[in-house]
Amino acid sequence: MKRHFIFIIILFSTFLMASTLQFPQCNGNYPDPVNVTILPDTPVFGQPVNLYISIMAYTPVEFGAYVEYTMDNPDWLLPITYRQDICNDVYIQICPISNYYNYNVSFYYKKGISIEVNVVAKLVNPDGNVLSCVNGIFTIPF
Ligand SMILES: *[C@@H]1O[C@H](CO)[C@@H](O)[C@H](O)[C@H]1NC(C)=O
Ligand SMILES: *[C@@H]1O[C@H](CO)[C@@H](O)[C@H](O)[C@H]1NC(C)=O
Repeated sequence: MKRHFIFIIILFSTFLMASTLQFPQCNGNYPDPVNVTILPDTPVFGQPVNLYISIMAYTPVEFGAYVEYTMDNPDWLLPITYRQDICNDVYIQICPISNYYNYNVSFYYKKGISIEVNVVAKLVNPDGNVLSCVNGIFTIPF
């Protein structure tokens, strides 16, 4: 659990390397719009960074929902897929979510080795319904 959480923090910290404040939505139609914003927009290494996520759950996010990350890099043989359950003590304790919900995470960003990956993050209900999707090319520090 803790390891997963750290992984997600690392993934989220990729926003710091992007020049935009807003995580772009995938092409296509998804029922639940999501905004992901990072503050401050110009991160200072060693200073806390706030990640602000908001969702308008027109289709409820059911208990058992997860975020599926697919990461790829031209040098890799195969993409990496990673599933993170979100309805638990670490993330969202009040599933199901309907209507507006927002969530803040603070973390510290540390400089390190980085790798550029193409990331797609989908919010998926246990029945397989994809509710939200964001994507982009990001530099992930490891
Ligand atoms: C996302 O941001 C846009 C533009 O600021 C806003 O209109 C929309 O209501 C926001 N959606 C959510 C789910 O926060
Ligand atoms: C998250 O931070 C934003 C911006 O400071 C604030 O408007 C919002 O109420 C916070 N949400 C939570 C759940 O603390």
